[in-house]
Amino acid sequence: MYLTEEEERIYEGELGWANQICMKILARLGELFNATKLIPISWAHGSGVSYKTLGDAPIAFLEALASAGGKAKVKATLNPQSFDSEYIGRNVGKSIRQKQLNVLAQFEKMGFTESLSCTPYYLERPKKGSHMAWAESSAVVYANSVLGAWTNREGGPSALAAAIVGKTPNHGIHKAENRQPKALVKLEAKLKNEIEFGALGAYLGTILEDKIPIIQGLSNVSNDNLKQLCAAIATTGMVNMFHFGNVSKKLGAVEKVSIEARNIKHTVESLTTASKSKNPDLVFLGCPHCSLSEIKQIANQIGDRKIRSGVKCWICTSRYIREKAKGHVEKIEKSGCHVITDTCAVVTWTEQLGIKVIMTNSAKTAHYAPTLNKAETIFAPLKECLKAALKG
Ligand code: F3S
Repeated sequence: MYLTEEEERIYEGELGWANQICMKILARLGELFNATKLIPISWAHGSGVSYKTLGDAPIAFLEALASAGGKAKVKATLNPQSFDSEYIGRNVGKSIRQKQLNVLAQFEKMGFTESLSCTPYYLERPKKGSHMAWAESSAVVYANSVLGAWTNREGGPSALAAAIVGKTPNHGIHKAENRQPKALVKLEAKLKNEIEFGALGAYLGTILEDKIPIIQGLSNVSNDNLKQLCAAIATTGMVNMFHFGNVSKKLGAVEKVSIEARNIKHTVESLTTASKSKNPDLVFLGCPHCSLSEIKQIANQIGDRKIRSGVKCWICTSRYIREKAKGHVEKIEKSGCHVITDTCAVVTWTEQLGIKVIMTNSAKTAHYAPTLNKAETIFAPLKECLKAALKG
């Protein structure tokens, strides 16, 4: 891969170890993916922030990088951590709290904003056509497909290195020719609610592998439903973007796929693992983190109902949206549900909190909870989730 003179100097260590190691990570990645050069990025979004999913091993690297003066050169935001300070944080042990706070302190030292959300695009909408290095898979698909920004699906280390260098190798869907559709998906089913959009994503992820589809039949879809589709397609496969709407692209010989109602129904059913007799310990909404319109919708649907005893109800979002939705948040919390920021059920310590059955309207959570939370799942739309959580 070609490096400019300035990049060479960084590679040789003239700007210190932190910059050098990050440049080496990017150069190695570039070689692996046959990139010919690095390109500037406007925004890096880091993952591997939750101590629960990160573990102990990478912390020493973060500390070394931060103490060697590694500093983000571009806007740099972070995925959720493993608890919030108000509610869950009080119930996790001291050692967990200290380790998590140390991880955050290292990122902060390196100039990352404590956004702690998987929906960084609500904080600021990325510019159409801008190149970025984002590591949250649901946000990557949303950025490419809905917002028109350009990012590969980065891992935690490559997003971190890209933040510090301010560049990323020019490969994958940073190149226009690699953003062309390779499959034509005909949606024959009429999708009724958010869980069916999630199910469509989960199903497509398993059959498309990494092929970019054009999805025909997706019209007048809300951004909230598209978000469920984006999160789920990235969960079960390696698709990093899709085309939809009035796409007038000339298609070459592409694979053709037809999605019928039975595919959606079967996928919805497969995302519930708990038996019918089980009640949820936790009703979790907000995967990916809620938008303002979702918070408003939840507040309206709750009305003046109150939480049932023996069940928790968490609604996860970013600090930014929580602040913007203050009135709705107050209404939600009067019911006994919690509007939680900075974390989510998947990356927090549900097992330690005794949560064994999670009910959710998110296909992504329903997919991950059996392994990452060792929990059984009930996959159901918002209305049913709230009915299970609330009296009346
Ligand atoms: Fe976000 Fe957690 Fe879902 S990080 S995408 S709410 S699993």
